[in-house]
Amino acid sequence: MLPPLDAQQRAHSERLAALVRAQLIEAGGWLSFERFMDLALYAPGLGYYSAGSAKLGPGGDFVTAPELSDLFSRCIARQCAAVLEATGGEILELGAGTGRLAAAVLSELAALDRLPGRYAILEVSADLAQRQRAHIARLPEALRQRITWLERLPEQPVRGVMLANEVADALPCRRFRREGTGINELGVALADGEPHRFVEKERAPDASLARAYAELLRDLPDPLPVGYTSELCLRADAWIASLAACLDRGLLLLCDYGLPRRHYYHPQRTGGTLRCHYRQLAHDDPFINLGVQDITAWVDFTRIAAAGHSAGLEVQGFATQAAFLLGCGIEELVLESGEGIEHARRAAEARRLLMPEEMGEAFKVMALARDLDIPLAGFVLQDLRHLL
Ligand SMILES: C[S@@+](CC[C@H](N)C(=O)[O-])C[C@H]1O[C@@H](n2cnc3c(N)ncnc32)[C@H](O)[C@@H]1O
Repeated sequence: MLPPLDAQQRAHSERLAALVRAQLIEAGGWLSFERFMDLALYAPGLGYYSAGSAKLGPGGDFVTAPELSDLFSRCIARQCAAVLEATGGEILELGAGTGRLAAAVLSELAALDRLPGRYAILEVSADLAQRQRAHIARLPEALRQRITWLERLPEQPVRGVMLANEVADALPCRRFRREGTGINELGVALADGEPHRFVEKERAPDASLARAYAELLRDLPDPLPVGYTSELCLRADAWIASLAACLDRGLLLLCDYGLPRRHYYHPQRTGGTLRCHYRQLAHDDPFINLGVQDITAWVDFTRIAAAGHSAGLEVQGFATQAAFLLGCGIEELVLESGEGIEHARRAAEARRLLMPEEMGEAFKVMALARDLDIPLAGFVLQDLRHLL
């Protein structure tokens, strides 16, 4: 059972619902799920990421790897250090959450004597950008001064590393259901006789979704059964293309929960991967708690790889989070963390990051590279590229 909203959250949620309702009516009574998710997460001042709820961390709705432990960020930093040594240049982080990853990566790079010239953050949420600034303000001046916030992707080509942890899963996605000989697109409408309740409604897919579905089918060994419902993130293509377009030389490192296409669209995964997160509880109803709960879908890493490839990037690594962190030396970092309670705490954090039933297996790390010919420690223990 989900905890009830307080009065302030209810009022907030009703304001966002009114906006969605108005757009829905203006659009003739139906919105694609992608448009609905866009409004639910990013409507200015009202969407989940745009507004002021706690969101990440133990007091929020979900915990990401950098929130769970700096061990994650220190491993990422070690991988960045190797790339920066080859390329020089900078780090650009997309969607930096509370700023914990940025702070911990910079601190580790300072300890490794491999600081980048600049650490830029591109964040779409004004609320989170403010929280990032507050977190970064606690860093020593020598680190703080390297961090800068961008309004859009840089015009100057980037050399170095681009990082995105749990950003691809927050991109609004389309939803579809197998029907008859093809698919219908799932969208949102108002319930008959209940104009304040949103419900799922199907219609014929538009050309872009129909095309993407046909491409998908070509990659799958088995047809999908009638009634099969899932997600397809068309926006990922343009997002990866835009990042690739400004990566001159170096690595785009993506960490997220997801699967290669054949596993993502497994015939038995009949309900798809869409999940909502509210106060550390996961459920699958995106139409409630509007603006106060997160909505995400798993990442089809085959789509990401293909988009990278089309943009001239090479997939240099694809592994589970556990294999990546072990390759980057997480065990050594735990051993170095002293004795007694501190060591036990670190070991427990590492277990949550590594264990298959926690974050170790569902989360994957993908390295997309341009003009980079160096061994990547995070991918020496496992190579899952053949599954893409
Ligand atoms: C699930 S949170 C992850 C935050 C952080 N990376 C972490 O791991 O704790 C998703 C983040 O991506 C941001 N975001 C979503 N779409 C984005 C985009 N197109 N470009 C940059 N940031 C984006 C959100 O505002 C939020 O900061």
